[in-house]
Amino acid sequence: MNNFTFHTPTEIIFGKGAEAETSALIQKYGGSRILVIIGGGSVIRSGLLKRLEGQLRQNRIAYRLHGGVKPNPVASHVREGIKAALDFGADFILAVGGGSVIDEAKAIAHGTKNPQTDFWAFWEGEAELTASLPIGTVLTIAAAGSETSASAVITNKQTGRKRGLTTPFNRPCFAVMNPELTFTLPKDQIACGIVDILMHTLERYFINAGSNRLTDEIAEGLMRTVIENGRIALGNPSDYDAMSELMWCGSLSHNGLTGLGRPSDFSVHQMGHELSARYDVSHGASLSAVWGGWAEHCRQDGVTRFAQYARKVWGIEDRNDDEAAKDGIGQTLRFFKEIGMPVCLPELNIGTIDEETVLDLAERCTYYGKRAIGQLKPLDAEGIAEVYRKAGGGRAIISRE
Ligand code: NZQ
Ligand code: ZN
Repeated sequence: MNNFTFHTPTEIIFGKGAEAETSALIQKYGGSRILVIIGGGSVIRSGLLKRLEGQLRQNRIAYRLHGGVKPNPVASHVREGIKAALDFGADFILAVGGGSVIDEAKAIAHGTKNPQTDFWAFWEGEAELTASLPIGTVLTIAAAGSETSASAVITNKQTGRKRGLTTPFNRPCFAVMNPELTFTLPKDQIACGIVDILMHTLERYFINAGSNRLTDEIAEGLMRTVIENGRIALGNPSDYDAMSELMWCGSLSHNGLTGLGRPSDFSVHQMGHELSARYDVSHGASLSAVWGGWAEHCRQDGVTRFAQYARKVWGIEDRNDDEAAKDGIGQTLRFFKEIGMPVCLPELNIGTIDEETVLDLAERCTYYGKRAIGQLKPLDAEGIAEVYRKAGGGRAIISRE
C-alpha cells in the first residue's frame, strides 16, 4: 500500500428534507452575504430554489442569484459570477444544482477571493491558489461527485480548453444531499451520472502499481451497487432507495476513497474532456464513448486487473484471465448500451471524427507535448490517437455490437 493523505472535510447532510438545514449550515460556516449559483432552471421548476430563498429570507441572510450555468460550465460565465459576487460583497458561495453549478461556484469562490488574478490562471497553472471563499452545496444529481471532491472543471471557449483544477480549496464546507431532489431528473441525465460514477471508480481501479485490498473491495462493491441501483433508478426515477444509493456512491467515488494507497489513471477523463471542449457533449457520454477504445488498447497491459474486475464486479467465471478480461469489457459496454449511453465516437452523433481531428484532439490532450496521460499504460499523443481510433474515430470505424 502506498503512503496517502486522506482529508475530506465536507460535512454531509444526507436524506429526506436535508435542504431544510441549509441556512443553519451557511451560518455555521460563516456566511452572511451569499451568492446563490443555479443552472438552466431545473431548481426553479422543481420549487427547490423558492424554498431555499424563503429559508434565507426567514433567517435574514442576504443573497443574490447568479443563474444560467450551462452543463460544461464556461469561463466567461464564471467571470460574470465573480463580478456579481464582488459587486454584492459576497462572503459565501452556495451552489444549488449538479456538477456544473458546483464547479462554477468553486471557480467564482476562487476568483472573488483573488480579484487581482484572472481566475483562469489558476486552471492553467499560471498562478497558485492560496485562499478562497467558503462554498456550500445543495446537490440535485448523482454524477460528478463535485459536492465533496477536490476538483473543479471549467471550459474556456476562447482557447477550446476544458481543464480541471485540483486543490483542497475546492472541497465544499457542506453538501446537502436529499435523494428526493433527484426525482425530477430526465433518464438520460441519470444514465450520464451512472457512467460518471462508475468511471471515477474505474479510473482509480485500472492501475498497475500499489495494491490495496480494502480499496479494491470498496471500489468493487461500489460499482456493483451502482450497476444494480442504476437499473432500478432508470426503471423508476422516484425510487428513493435506488436514488439514495446512487447519490452516496457518487460522492464516495470521487472524494478519494476508492483510490487510496495507489496511483490513479484518469486518461479516459482527459480524452473525454477534449471531446466535450470541442463538441459540448455531456461529460458522461464523452466517457462511455471512449472507454471501450481505451480498454481495448490497454487490456494486454492489465489482463490480471481486467480479469479481477470481470469476476468481482460482473460475476464472470471464466478460468482464463484473458477470456475473463475480454468478457468484463464486453459486459461493461453492453451495460452502457442498455442504459442508452454511447459506446463509440460515432454514437455521440457529432458527425465523423476524421483522422486530422483525431490527431488534433490527441495533441491537445497532451497539452501540445507537455504531458503524457494515464498510469496503467501511459499514453503520448500517438497512444491517445490510437484510443480515439479504436473508439471509432479516424479511419477505423468499429462496430461494438
Ligand atoms: O442546469 P439545470 O437546469 O439545473 O439542469 C441540469 C443540466 O441540464 C440537469 N439537472 C440537474 N439536476 C436536475 C436536473 N434536471 C432535472 N432535475 C434535477 N434534479 O442536468 C443537466 C446536467 O447537469 P450537470 O450539472 O452538468 O451534471 P453533472 O453533475 O454531470 O456535472 C457535469 C460537469 O461536472 C464536471 C464535468 O466535466 C461537467 O462539466 N465534472 C466535475 C468533477 C468534479 N468537480 O470533481 C468531476 C467529474 O469528472 C466531471 O469532470
Ligand atoms: Zn467524471
